[in-house]
Amino acid sequence: MRHTPPLQVTYQNDGTQMIPDNCTLCPLHKERTNIVIGTGDLHAAIMFVGEAPGEQEDLKGDPFVGPAGKLLDKLLHKAGLKRKDVFITNVVKCRPPGNREPTPEEIHMCSPFLRKQIQAIQPRVLVTLGRVATQRLTFQFGAMGDLLSNPNLTYTYREDAPIPVLALYHPSYLLRQGAALRGKAKPLFLDAVARLKRATEYQQVG
Ligand code: URA
Repeated sequence: MRHTPPLQVTYQNDGTQMIPDNCTLCPLHKERTNIVIGTGDLHAAIMFVGEAPGEQEDLKGDPFVGPAGKLLDKLLHKAGLKRKDVFITNVVKCRPPGNREPTPEEIHMCSPFLRKQIQAIQPRVLVTLGRVATQRLTFQFGAMGDLLSNPNLTYTYREDAPIPVLALYHPSYLLRQGAALRGKAKPLFLDAVARLKRATEYQQVG
């Protein structure tokens, strides 16, 4: 089993300070423009975790600002949520070339950052966008359909209290299902909105 080398990072309650500007832990550093750390409320009850930055995200340094991000904004709006009230990040913080899926090695090398972000923000619920984020956080490795129908998904890290995980299809997947979310994609979109509304219930707890 590979061990992650020590990281030169300051773990503050501030997502911007967790990753060194010059991180070279995995090969993704070679082609990245920006490290995409995450944006939003550092005390958010709801934390979204996607897969990896795409082209627009790499250029701007913010997560979900391209086409998938526009759809995520629509989902948030329909569920009565605002970007500024949630925290949004990804499993890996640098863009995989050509938007390919991050490799297990890249995910492994980047995972301490996501873990520290979750520990710092302490969300009441984690919303995972797509298979990569859902599998990584829950350590359940079924198909996305099976993960979506599992009501007991949690993220658990060692002695930390488990955090409920709400899985959603990735917005890019929804986009691929149909333009303007008509036809086949419409029920998927409505299902995602219903799931997100469930996530908002966690805002009221406590
Ligand atoms: N897809 C992701 O998984 N994350 C982003 O930030 C953008 C697209």
